[in-house]
Amino acid sequence: MTKGLLEFKQDKILVKGLSKEFSAAIEVPGDKSISHRAVMLGSLAAGKSRVSNLSLSGDNMATVAAFRKLGINIKKQNLNGSPKDFVIEGAGLHGLKEPESVINTANSGTLTRLLAGILAGKDFFSVMSGDKYLNSRPMRRIIEPLSLMGAKITGRNKNAYPPLAISGGGLKSIFYEVPVPSAQVKSCVMLAALFAEGDTVIYEKKETRDHTENLLKLQGYPVNVDVPVNGSGSLITVKGRGRGELKPFNIDIPGDFSSAAFFIALGILHKGSEITVGSILLNDKRAGFIKALKMMGADVNLTVTGEVPEKMGDIKAKYSTLKGITVPLELVPDMIDEFPIFSVIASFAEGKTTVTGAKELRVKESDRIKTIVYNLRALGVDIKELEDGFEINGNPDLKNGREPLTALNSFGDHRIAMSMIIAGLILKSGKIEISGIRCINTSFPEFFDTVSRLINQ
Ligand code: S3P
Repeated sequence: MTKGLLEFKQDKILVKGLSKEFSAAIEVPGDKSISHRAVMLGSLAAGKSRVSNLSLSGDNMATVAAFRKLGINIKKQNLNGSPKDFVIEGAGLHGLKEPESVINTANSGTLTRLLAGILAGKDFFSVMSGDKYLNSRPMRRIIEPLSLMGAKITGRNKNAYPPLAISGGGLKSIFYEVPVPSAQVKSCVMLAALFAEGDTVIYEKKETRDHTENLLKLQGYPVNVDVPVNGSGSLITVKGRGRGELKPFNIDIPGDFSSAAFFIALGILHKGSEITVGSILLNDKRAGFIKALKMMGADVNLTVTGEVPEKMGDIKAKYSTLKGITVPLELVPDMIDEFPIFSVIASFAEGKTTVTGAKELRVKESDRIKTIVYNLRALGVDIKELEDGFEINGNPDLKNGREPLTALNSFGDHRIAMSMIIAGLILKSGKIEISGIRCINTSFPEFFDTVSRLINQ
């Protein structure tokens, strides 16, 4: 099948460079992180919640299927013809049922880790298992705090990986300092805290995305976020069992910032072009990519259009001449999902870009330091692998293309696949072939339609 510059061959794609300039306004699907939390916390709410613009990604649909298996009625609403509107008939904090078979967590780290927190609080037995990529992602980081709270939870390879087996219930509160910057670990402990005896306090040295805090507050649950006396990071206090309940909600989920990032990159890199991505989540803890791009000299502007359920607005990005930067350490957690596409941008900038303090990239859907280095090297980029990041000597001339055909590989990682497709669209000559593109469904099933609309306009 061919869609303009994209030629599909089963699980591979051939991408040809974009020649014409474009000026476009697009939208991307609902935010994946908020979609997971909306289904989870809607299921635990006392009553019916309505969620519009839920992400239909593989990851989010796995969350819907998981909560259906736990006895929750989740229906497509289709009121105004959108397949993205859902009604969740929440059963309250104590309404989930013991699942009769293994819960499939597919490719989703967020589903696995957050759901583990909820299941740890339940007085029943459950097992979670995902695909081969998910089942190689580290789980000790959640097994440790949940065990401290009193859950019986075990995993494959001496508790390192899924499948995870949980016999929950009888939790007690803890004080927990999250050892790695991870919103998934923080959220896992916060969700277990809803079922624990007493108040749980979590300390984050560096704040990570706060969608769980925001949605719990919107639901009227007693959660406090304070600045600790030493002034850095945040202390999150979650009241325990019997101290609050979750109210149902009606929300319209803003567009996914991490999906928008691919198109922001295209707008900045393609000569003479500009793009506006509308109604996007603008949570401050997800804004590192925009800050880094501005440091590189990119012409990107944000217009805030709303605040509920979180800050949202439009992002306008125009073709820019870019220079390399050293990414400040404090920005790293705020752009953790954007490093694959950021590495593509840095490859076409003038001069050196250095990323350090990003060891977490090694335990994402792939070892993203390795998979970025492998693919960019194949494209002729001068890139050095560091233990906790990479160093790129960028070169705008690389846009001219070097080989008639360059073979790249997603290694089963959706963000690597989409980043390399954007790189292919930027090259003025030669084609690139990317193997393993089905994984894009994990976060952005509408990706190819959005690209085709843009390039065929
Ligand atoms: C997420 C947190 C991040 C991010 C992931 C989504 C979340 O993972 O990479 O895509 O929704 O909480 P970590 O918590 O492992 O940093």
